Amino acid sequence: MKINIARNYEDMSRMAAEHIINTVNRKPNALISLPGGSTPLGTFRYLIEASKQNRVSFAQCRFISLDEWVGLGGEDEGSCRMTLDLHFFEPLNISENQIHFYDGLSQDLMGECDKMDFFIKEHGPIDLIALGVGLNGHLGFNEPGSRMDAYSHVVELDEVTRAVSVKYFSEQKNLNHGITLGMKHIMETIDVLLLADGDKKAEIVKATVLGESNDQVPSSLLQRHGQVELFLDERAASLL
Ligand code: GLP
Repeated sequence: MKINIARNYEDMSRMAAEHIINTVNRKPNALISLPGGSTPLGTFRYLIEASKQNRVSFAQCRFISLDEWVGLGGEDEGSCRMTLDLHFFEPLNISENQIHFYDGLSQDLMGECDKMDFFIKEHGPIDLIALGVGLNGHLGFNEPGSRMDAYSHVVELDEVTRAVSVKYFSEQKNLNHGITLGMKHIMETIDVLLLADGDKKAEIVKATVLGESNDQVPSSLLQRHGQVELFLDERAASLL
């Protein structure tokens, strides 16, 4: 794992964005998966600025979901799709035909998984995945102890994830499942970035980098991937 430690959140966001810019400039039609959550928002802001300055263009890229809350659609506040629409796709004028996302409202979630896996088979491999990390080590919605040998699948959400989820929603939601790219997708991706900031992520960053690599801490499985870069601020890196 290559570990980049920045002084603060802004610098971390800039460093991660520069990495993404390099990848897209090398491969303008890259297949990319980006996370929801709050960690990547600074990176997205930086990428939008870079695009305005003509330092990068996403016009030929394709974007696939990383994960989605089951029960939420693209129009719902706090859905991963909505977060990306607001903070990335709309400001960058990414067109609908560049976007292939899970529909968390679908009555046929297995069908959603199959469609995604087929899409990746056809257009893959995934060139770049940027990941946040849950306090329990989840990547996307690959929760501790869930299937690590899978491609897309539906997961029962961990207690920690359910507790943390309230920060994304202004009213209480009863969300118990997620749909996610599997660890197998993540491990087969060419270029993996993991972003983390703040004191609250220090313990899980330590377990990710220095802990035993096992499925109880999904992020620690990245130790087995040959091309992973971590982008941390000093606080998240404080226990390394
Ligand atoms: C969420 C999402 C992940 C996200 C992670 C960290 O529950 N399923 O895709 O990366 O947890 O979120 P945050 O960046 O808000 O800490």
